[in-house]
Amino acid sequence: MRLTLRVWRQDGPDRRGRFEDYDVPDVNPEISFLEMLDVLSDRLALAGEEPIAFEHDCREGICGSCGVVINGRVHGPQRGTSTCQLHMREFSDGDVVVVEPFRARAFPVIKDLVVDRSPLDRIMEAGGYITVTAGSAPEANAIQVPKQAAETAMDAAACIGCGACVAACPNSAAQLFTAAKVSHLGLLPQGQAERWSRAESMVETMERFFGSCTNHGECESACPKSISIDFIAMLNRDFVRAKWKNRKLAGQKR
Ligand code: SF4
Ligand code: FES
Repeated sequence: MRLTLRVWRQDGPDRRGRFEDYDVPDVNPEISFLEMLDVLSDRLALAGEEPIAFEHDCREGICGSCGVVINGRVHGPQRGTSTCQLHMREFSDGDVVVVEPFRARAFPVIKDLVVDRSPLDRIMEAGGYITVTAGSAPEANAIQVPKQAAETAMDAAACIGCGACVAACPNSAAQLFTAAKVSHLGLLPQGQAERWSRAESMVETMERFFGSCTNHGECESACPKSISIDFIAMLNRDFVRAKWKNRKLAGQKR
């Protein structure tokens, strides 16, 4: 296939960005989108030009490192698919493919297609863990987990922390990410001890960096792991309950 790639190039965080067009005449439909960027970057480097900066690690849809906006769609045209799992057969000969970084105020551009997603780490630091003495591996049946709770927690745990939900949301809200992390632990017996402090502090940290959810649902359709917005309902319920529970725990009954 012959494609024209229109790629966002930006030399640094404080530099002005611009789109540049690249003619890519021999794209193999079986390679991935990132492999196609590899091929183009190698050619640019051989020609003495600056390769395109983009993030990646596992290239298996599990680490959450990759992510660009392709023809206006976060992670590209294939639903439930991260950029690294997208293949060039989704495009047609002669297409113009516009490639941009995630756009959100909380995710400033570092270079080209690479953005700083560390505000998601601040949310995790605020409560995305359980504090137990791990010791050695426990006996598998020592803590029994109802099947439905285990499966729903597993659905939430599928979140890879890519930030596509933020980039797709018109408000740049991080509710789907936060909801997945809070629900993953809050559904399991091991997560109960810190359930209320976790919900409150993760939501309050989220609100320092990100916009508010107004139920557009764009996050769910952009999510490469198809995390359901039902988890946002669970998060809202836990946050409201946490507000009362935490006052009681502090000795304030009313
Ligand atoms: S909820 Fe989905 S889109 Fe958001 S960070 Fe997790 S995997 Fe990425
Ligand atoms: S590179 Fe790991 S999810 Fe895409």
